[in-house]
Amino acid sequence: MDRFQMGESVMLTSQKGKKWLVRVDDASFSCHLGAIHMKDVLGREEGEHLETHKGAKLYLFRPSLEDYIFTMVRKTQIIYPKDLGAIVFYGDIHSNHLIIESGIGSGALSMALLRSLGEGGCLVSVEKRHEFAMQARENVRKFFGELPRNHQVIVADIQDFSITTKADRVFLDLPEPWHAISSVARLLRQGGLLVNLSPNVGQVQLVYRELKAQGFASMNTFELMKRDWMVDERRARPKDRMIAHTGFITVAKKTPVPLQSDDMEE
Ligand SMILES: C[S@@+](CC[C@H](N)C(=O)[O-])C[C@H]1O[C@@H](n2cnc3c(N)ncnc32)[C@H](O)[C@@H]1O
Repeated sequence: MDRFQMGESVMLTSQKGKKWLVRVDDASFSCHLGAIHMKDVLGREEGEHLETHKGAKLYLFRPSLEDYIFTMVRKTQIIYPKDLGAIVFYGDIHSNHLIIESGIGSGALSMALLRSLGEGGCLVSVEKRHEFAMQARENVRKFFGELPRNHQVIVADIQDFSITTKADRVFLDLPEPWHAISSVARLLRQGGLLVNLSPNVGQVQLVYRELKAQGFASMNTFELMKRDWMVDERRARPKDRMIAHTGFITVAKKTPVPLQSDDMEE
């Protein structure tokens, strides 16, 4: 098992599950449970623990993708882990796929898609705001330790974007996705899947209208609710608070688009 090295990130985790993402270096770390020297993490393995000067245990773990996306720099709304899991599964990603996503936002979906692709395929992330594209790239780089070779970040408006090879999958997380559907329909191969996430039903209705106009079929929209529970010796019940709403996920399949008048002139 890989031992923790200088400069690496470690997720310090209390016995009650409270977490802190900290760098392994010469500094000390302190919280309400007490203090530890971060250099004592050096050479230890995941799952080991250190004791604070107050005698509390802090477990040492590498951050999971879920841990990471909540601690990375976020300049935009991100897709929550419960939705990322569903998007990746219902998006039915294969390791050789060419995937287009837009916009990249803070890169949460990009990381989930790249994890799913592994070293194969290719993810093209199209983002119209340069500063978001750069921050997301940096988030991706930090998570994977380097920029994945199968990830291209392109600063452009998705409505003007074109690519020579047809994509297998398109993922949209945009404020006005209905304006992008006619453009991405041309980029997606027949039988390819489009997955859209939108927080409002009004957006979903406009997306449906456009999907139908562009020859998509097999449309399905759903939302997911995740209710966390508190479990100990005395009680086992749902927590008082939850993230009750995030967004509606729509999955649609591309069929041959009926020829438009301007297509016929080519
Ligand atoms: C909610 S964020 C995406 C969050 C991202 N899915 C994540 O998980 O981190 C929406 C992004 O879409 C970008 N955007 C909006 N309209 C766009 C367009 N027409 N073309 C490309 N990007 C666009 C915004 O700049 C923003 O970064």
